[in-house]
Parts: sequence; structure tokens; C-alpha cells
Amino acid sequence: MDKKVVVVGGASGVGAACVRSLAEAGASVVSLDRSEESGRSVAEKAGQTFLQCDVTDRDQVFAVMDEAVGVLGALDSLVHAAGILVQGPAEDVTDRDWARVMDVNARGPMLTNQAAFPHLRKGERSSIANFASSSALTAYPNGAMYAASKGAVTAWTRTIAVEWATHGIRANVIHPSASTAMLEQHRAKMTEEELAAFDAAIRQKIPLGGVFGDPDRDIAPVITFLVSDGARFMTGQNIAINGGYYI
Ligand SMILES: NC(=O)c1ccc[n+]([C@@H]2O[C@H](COP(=O)([O-])OP(=O)(O)OC[C@H]3O[C@@H](n4cnc5c(N)ncnc54)[C@H](O)[C@@H]3O)[C@@H](O)[C@H]2O)c1
Repeated sequence: MDKKVVVVGGASGVGAACVRSLAEAGASVVSLDRSEESGRSVAEKAGQTFLQCDVTDRDQVFAVMDEAVGVLGALDSLVHAAGILVQGPAEDVTDRDWARVMDVNARGPMLTNQAAFPHLRKGERSSIANFASSSALTAYPNGAMYAASKGAVTAWTRTIAVEWATHGIRANVIHPSASTAMLEQHRAKMTEEELAAFDAAIRQKIPLGGVFGDPDRDIAPVITFLVSDGARFMTGQNIAINGGYYI
């Protein structure tokens, strides 16, 4: 696949799997993340380039996107997987936490999408894939703030799919369920009893296998397809890659 792709959040989990999958399919990738050590290691192992970037810093995002496009020579696709999970009861959400989660999960994709836009515009049938979460589409008790941030990126993506279609840019939003560092952080906060209840619920709620997906085997190949020209007639879609969770 002769595509030039920027993957945001490529140091870990699903983003790292996307770097590997796209590289394996023949794409040239620049991986961006705020985590330098793991970001560089993932990219180098895949024979690709890493640049450090915090998605909440507008000036940095625009400068690093220009640098990434300089490395690639052009830009066909942007995959934005960077995000954070912060949980807690809705009644305890503070202004500070709300601002931080919105900054990374909602403002972050807005900034990378804007920074990519003038470069993508020059391409034909170029694309954006933004990662949201099933919590954007269904209730997520103990995660209202996270759910709100993912609702924002879902709505943003749906609208740019229409606005930017005239420039030949497709935009889809991904709702994954994957076994990653984020899931492990979530599990680490649970008591033994909560963990047993959580695993039992997942066994019941995910018809395909009863567990979260593997980022490399189950999630990244779908993203590689979305980047490819095989997906050239798909835009504005909510794409759940979750083994049937929430159906
Ligand atoms: N894993 C799941 O089951 C699941 C479920 C729903 C949604 N998601 C979403 O999918 C995406 C990928 O999740 P994951 O499970 O791979 O998570 P992860 O924690 O393994 O990876 C997230 C990456 O984002 C990076 N990041 C965080 N804040 C950043 C910032 N300010 N600037 C630059 N990089 C930053 C981290 O350094 C990390 O490399 C996230 O947006 C997440 O919210 C994941």
C-alpha cells in the first residue's frame, strides 16, 4: 500500500499496532506521541519515524505535523488514537479533570485534524480515523466525563466528514475494545471482587470470545483497511471494532 500516514498515539496499544500494521502493508508512517521512549522504540522496530508531540499544544501539533509531512513527502491519512481514560462518579467531576480530559480527548483530535487538513487537502481520497469509544454511544457508568469527551470527538468527526468531503477527505470514527495499557490501568484500580465481576460481565457482553480484542490482530487491520483505497466510499461512519460489545 503506497500511503503516507501519520499515526497519533503510536507509542502504545492500538496506535502502536496501527504503526506496525500500516508499515507491514507497505505504508510510510510517522508516529507521534508524548511518550518518547516507547514511541521511538515501536516506530524504529517497524522501520518508521517517531516524533514527540503533545496533542494539547497547538503550536507543537502544527509544527510537528509540518515536520512529519516533510519526512513523508506528502500526507494521505491521519490516524488519531491518542487518548486518556479518567473515571469517577459523575457527581465528583471537577472542572480541572473535565478540562484535562476534554483537552486530550476532544481538543487533541481537533488540533491534529486541523493541522493535517491543508496537507490532506492536496491528496485524493485521503482520510482521517479518529478514535472515540463505545461510551460515546451508550451509557458508561463511572465514566461520564470520558464518555462526554468521546461524544465530542464522535460528533466532530461526523461533521468534518461532510465539510471536508468536498476536499476529498474521508473521516470515520472508531469505537474499539482492546486489551491495552489503558485497559490494564482500568483493571489495576479494581478490587479482586470488582475484577471478577468485570471479567464475568465482559465474558457475557462480548459474543466473539468474551474478552477484549488484540490490538494487532483485531483492531489495526481494520484501520489499515480504512486507510486503503478499498474504503474510498466510506465516510462519517461509527465503526465499532469490539467483538459485538453493546449490540
Ligand atoms: N482499549 C480500549 O478498549 C479502548 C476502548 C475505547 C476507546 N479507546 C480509545 O482508543 C484509543 C487508543 O487507546 P489504547 O487502549 O491504545 O490506549 P493506550 O493508553 O495504550 O495508548 C494511548 C496513547 O496515547 C498517548 N497520549 C495520551 N495523551 C497524549 C497527549 N497529550 N499527547 C500525545 N499522546 C498522548 C499515550 O502516551 C499512549 O501512547 C484512545 O483514544 C482510547 O480512548 C480504547
